[in-house]
This record gives sequence, structure tokens and C-alpha cells, in this order.
Amino acid sequence: LEACKTDVWTLDKVKQTLPKRDKHSHKGSHGRGLVIGGHKEMPGAVRLTATAALRSGVGLLTVGSTSDVLPIVASAVTEATYMDLTDPKLDFESRIQPFDAIAIGMGMGRSDLSRQWLDAVIESDKPIIIDADGLYFLKSHLAKLAERKAPTILTPHPGEMAMLIDQTIQYVKNNPFEVAKDFAKNYQVYLVLKGAYTIVTCPNGEQTINTTGNPGLAKGGSGDCLAGIILAQIMQKGSLKSSLANACYIHGLAADLAIEDHHSTTDLLATDLINFLPDAFRKCL
Ligand code: APR
Ligand code: MG
Repeated sequence: LEACKTDVWTLDKVKQTLPKRDKHSHKGSHGRGLVIGGHKEMPGAVRLTATAALRSGVGLLTVGSTSDVLPIVASAVTEATYMDLTDPKLDFESRIQPFDAIAIGMGMGRSDLSRQWLDAVIESDKPIIIDADGLYFLKSHLAKLAERKAPTILTPHPGEMAMLIDQTIQYVKNNPFEVAKDFAKNYQVYLVLKGAYTIVTCPNGEQTINTTGNPGLAKGGSGDCLAGIILAQIMQKGSLKSSLANACYIHGLAADLAIEDHHSTTDLLATDLINFLPDAFRKCL
């Protein structure tokens, strides 16, 4: 019933709001993004985020990770540049200054170092997307979020949402609209509560629901792709609400087109979803 009062994000809305590139645009007009994450047992997550961001319109992209992860990602993602976050000479605060937006947390692990990266990113005046292990560390910083000078976007799945509010996953699943609205208003964040029907909630409580996507996405890696699509889209023209809703729509649509064409929900991988982003964008632009 609650869902009926909530705005469903449709293909028409995507077509009306998805920014087109203008004739004279250059890489600077499409945003300089930074992806922070990855550790030696999870090198794939940032690769997915980076590739998805590059396939979603970002102008320039840098991946910041540990020295053991960087060569793995760099050999797979040609178009990005790299920042070694484990370099003892790195001045993290000044190195993040040039970026227009930062996505942090994917496959990041829970080391002291990654906690420090999250602290610095939260202290920055950049638009940020916090996902996965970033959300784990965020719990002790929730009170700071309302003070941030730039938008904060959180992308929890129900388990991460439950952890943030000290509730059970079942409670989140039974009350997703209320949970999301209370949280977004309390902490003044944009909240992307993921699931079969992902709900985007704005700091003012406005909500929209996504209906694209299929159970082929219920696999490790799909969330990492969403973070990359979001990173790219929030740096384009357009409101944050429509950028987030469009990112969720396109993420799900790519998965839908993939299973319409030659995949199934059983075999679909996050990498396949990225390979269908071109079809999804062509349908939406
Ligand atoms: N229908 C439609 N979309 C779905 C469905 C479904 N049945 N299941 C999942 N999705 C979408 C979600 O909406 C979300 O965008 O797939 C994405 C899954 O994101 P995550 O749950 O963040 O998954 P991901 O991070 O890729 O992998 C799981 O999360 O909890 C951590 O440590 C855990 O490594 C694991 C990782
Ligand atoms: Mg995840």
C-alpha cells in the first residue's frame, strides 16, 4: 500500500531526465571521479565499480587502492588512473582535493587504514557515495553526516541497513519505506536501500522506487557495479534524485536486457551486466 503512494521511476522519467552530452563537452564537464576500495582478498570489487563508472559517462576516473590490488585492476581497466593509498608518503587529504565525487567502500576490507580513508572522505567537502565496508565504519560517524557541506549518498542492502540502525534484517524488509525515510531525514543523506525493489530516498523524505532488475543480480558484484553507475551519474547535469533513480533504473535494465538476449538469471554475472550497459543507455538516451 505504501508503495502506491511512492513514485515509481519509469522509462519516461529516465528519458526526460537522463543528461545528454553536448556537442562541445569535454572530459572535465563529465566529472572527475575517485573510487576507493579493494584489498588483497577482494580485488574484483573496485574493478567492477571502475568499469561500470567508465561505462556510465564519467569524464575521468581514478582508482585508489592498496599496492597489491592496483596492478590487478590496472591490467584490466585501461582507461582509469591509479593512486596507491598504501604509499607512506601519500597525503590523502590533499590528493582527494581535485575530485568531483568519491565512491568508497567496495571490497575495501576493515583495516585501520581503510577506516582512516573513510574518516578523511567524510571530512571532505565532496559529494560521496558510501557502500559495503564503508558503511561498516560509518556507524560511528552517523552524527557527523548532517554537518557535511556536500551530498552524502549511502547504498546499503537490507543487511547493511539493519546494522546501521541496530535492527534485524527482517524489520528492514518489513518496513523499508519508513526505515529509509526516517534515516534519510535524520541524517540528511540520500539513501539507496537496495533490493528487488530499490528505494531512493532524499534528505527531505521524497521517495522513488525502482522496478527494473531481476534475481540474476542476486550475486556478489552487482552492488559494486551500482556504485560505479551512481558515481558517474551524479557528476552529470541533473538533480541528485533523478541521477540516483536513473542509475538504479539503468543497472536493473542492463540485467533485464542481458537475460532477454542470451543470458539467464542463473548464469548472469556482474561483468555481464556491465557488458549490457551500452544497450541500457541506448534505450534510455
Ligand atoms: N531483483 C532485483 N535486483 C536485485 C535482486 C533481485 N532479486 N537481488 C539483488 N539485486 C540488486 C540490488 O538491488 C543491488 O543493486 O543487486 C544489487 C546487490 O547489491 P549488494 O547486496 O550490495 O551485493 P554486492 O555488494 O554486489 O555483493 C554482496 O555484500 O554484504 C556484502 O560482504 C557481502 O560481499 C558481499 C556483498
Ligand atoms: Mg554490496
